[in-house]
Amino acid sequence: MPLPKRVKIVEVGPRDGLQNEAQMVPTEVKIGLIDRLSRSGLVAIEATSFVSPKWVPQMADSTAVMEGIDRRLGVSYPVLTPNLKGLEAAAAAGATEVAIFGAASEAFSQKNINCSIDQSLERFAPLVAAATERNMRVRGYVSCVLGCPYEGDVAPESVAKVARRLLDLGCYEVSLGDTIGVGTPGKARAMVEVVSAVVPVQHLAVHFHDTYGQALANVLACLERGVAVVDSSVAGLGGCPYAAGASGNLASEDLLYMLEGLGIETGVDLQALIEAGLYISKSIGRPTGSKVAQARGCQAALEKQAS
Ligand code: HMG
Ligand code: MG
Repeated sequence: MPLPKRVKIVEVGPRDGLQNEAQMVPTEVKIGLIDRLSRSGLVAIEATSFVSPKWVPQMADSTAVMEGIDRRLGVSYPVLTPNLKGLEAAAAAGATEVAIFGAASEAFSQKNINCSIDQSLERFAPLVAAATERNMRVRGYVSCVLGCPYEGDVAPESVAKVARRLLDLGCYEVSLGDTIGVGTPGKARAMVEVVSAVVPVQHLAVHFHDTYGQALANVLACLERGVAVVDSSVAGLGGCPYAAGASGNLASEDLLYMLEGLGIETGVDLQALIEAGLYISKSIGRPTGSKVAQARGCQAALEKQAS
């Protein structure tokens, strides 16, 4: 299959990236990050989660974040909502797109959202109906598509089943999450082949955590199977609070650099993205996880030395 001409990057750093930070990140820093990201040309920025603050304290300021950001025309700011309570709060804060999150593994479903896969889908049905009634778009996630921290291997058929059910519920897109970053390109490709037999590939996105350094290779394998939507996290921020040891998502800067190298359009400005990544890295006091940002930083330092 030829590579797509254009890829949509779904930036998940402000949510998937920051949700795992042990120290509370100030609300104004989250807002500063999202506004920098939206100025880089990204058209989808997952902003926060309307989940239980007891489960994920870092996302407790979701309403203030949604109310504080400068919403740019043409940019969507999806937020995670696990239940109707979350949906109501998201709607009240002005969200126009939400994301529901299921899993292909029973154990992960229990740990992450405290219910079985079937229960989660039953819970999502009224949520999607209520969102649709309010003209809100709904994105779906399937976690543990290439492995589960509790159950190990996950069959691609289990992923396909949950993905299809999310599509049938009314999700416009289903993002396939390698939550713990254990996948390799052959497995990722095979999984996408099985899933795209039941969910048309134009409704699929991929979401790779980079724990084993395979995320970029996995993305390429999926682009070769027709996937044209990729989730990533600026500065490679993140991890999942319910998947111990899982590292951040693939860094958006590294993804963009590869896409540019392949001649694939995204509409995103690399330098602006790097600067957004450096802003958040400095704010939370750690070096960027993006190789591209590191390389550009070294290059800039060398040029300064030479001048
Ligand atoms: P529960 O304890 O079974 O729910 O949690 P509950 O209905 O019994 O409620 C417990 C308490 O939470 C109650 O408060 C509720 O009011 C409150 P209390 O009466 O004890 O004071 N509550 C809420 N508060 C605010 N907003 C809400 C909400 N719902 C209940 N929406 C629940 C069930 C699903 C709520 C909980 O398990 C939860 O919030 N889980 C979220 C976990 C999470 O955010 N995980 C990370 C995101 S998923 C991810 O990162 C993977 C992804 O990136 C893809 C990939 O990488 O694979 C998407
Ligand atoms: Mg994730």
